Formats: sequence, structure tokens, C-alpha cells
Amino acid sequence: MIKIAPSLLAANVARLGEEVKRIESYADMLHVDVMDGHFVPNISFGVPVVAGLRKALDLCFDVHLMITHPLQYIEKFANAGADIITVHIESPDDTAECVRLIKSLGKKAGVALNPDTSPQRLAHLVGGIDMVLQMTVFPGFGGQSMEEQALGNLPVLREMLGKDKDLQVDGGIYADNCAELVRLGANVIVSGTGIFGQPDPVDAIVKLKNNASAVVQP
Ligand code: DX5
Ligand code: ZN
Repeated sequence: MIKIAPSLLAANVARLGEEVKRIESYADMLHVDVMDGHFVPNISFGVPVVAGLRKALDLCFDVHLMITHPLQYIEKFANAGADIITVHIESPDDTAECVRLIKSLGKKAGVALNPDTSPQRLAHLVGGIDMVLQMTVFPGFGGQSMEEQALGNLPVLREMLGKDKDLQVDGGIYADNCAELVRLGANVIVSGTGIFGQPDPVDAIVKLKNNASAVVQP
């Protein structure tokens, strides 16, 4: 099933609540980028933003942790209302331990990989996780162009995951390039600039969903 995940990073911070309310009934989940200024060279949202928005919204909260020590923060984001928590395989913390902690808190677990990371690095984890996040840009900033080198990983990851688990893609995705990603095996489309950066974010979600859904998935 195709799912569209608008990325909060591209929303107008002066009106975060209103911006998300506007797309709430069209989106399948809200993608929240957490950056610590260390794992990636940027700082974004933290626990209070997730907790505050969660109270006002019914959406599934998909929290993408781009932080050096996810183990220290997983429980805090779970308590704040995250439904899916994704950690990077490149972080120095033990990813298997992160996944066990996320699952023990009753949340869905995702593992993310950068465009230049081999999918083989997470092969031992796929049995215990709900989602893989293939970064289609190097993490840290919205509005970047897609890294073609990431695309070759998608069929490999889909094969590893089987048909039913989610394969998410994130970075540089718009209505006019999402179909190729679905053709390669992705089914969860994150888009920031492609949704909140458009004149009509609802229309952008509908277009992303239509274009992605028109593809017969592998
Ligand atoms: C990048 C973040 C993305 C970002 C995508 O590090 O993980 O979620 O918000 O933004 P766009 O869609 O603008 O590339
Ligand atoms: Zn993200």
C-alpha cells in the first residue's frame, strides 16, 4: 500500500499546527525529522514539538532520528507520542538494541540508511523491524536533489523485506519523480518541499499518491 508522509521540516514553523491540520486527513503519517547538530550538521525538532503536535493531531507520527545517540532518546520520543521510530544504521549506538527498545515500548521500528551505505549492513535486522528508510539524499537538510546512487538499493531492500514490510524513501521527492521509486520497490513516500513547499499542499499529496499508486509494485 502506498503511504504519503509529509515532512514537517518544510512546514512554516510560525504556523506548524495549522499547516499540519490542513493536510491531516490526506496524509498517511507525519514525518518528523529530529537532528542533533552532531550526527548531521543541522538542528531541528525535539521531544516537545512531537509531544505538543501529538496532542492536537490524530495522525500517525513517524519520527526519524538523525542523532548520534538514539538509545538515550527513544523512550522520550515514545512517551511524547511517536508511533514509528527510525534510527540510522550509521549511528554508533547498537541498532539491534535500539530496535529491541522501540519494540518493547510498543512502537514500530524503522532502520534508516544513507545513500552510500550498503543494504547488507542491515540484513541481520530485517526480521525484527517494521520499516526500512532508504535516504535518497544525505540527511540534514530539506530541499536537496535526489542522489541517484541510492536508487539501486531499493530492489535489494524490497527483496530482503518481502512484500509486506514498509520501504520508505526520503529526500528530493516530488510528484514527478515518485513513480520511479515505487517501481523500484518503495511504498512510503516522504516529501517536505514537495508538499509544504507547494502552493497547495493538499493537491501535492493527492498528486504524489496518484502518481505513486499508478505504478504496479514489484
Ligand atoms: C532530510 C530529511 C528529510 C527532509 C526531506 O535529512 O530526513 O525528511 O525533510 O525534505 P525534502 O522533501 O525537501 O527533500
Ligand atoms: Zn527524514
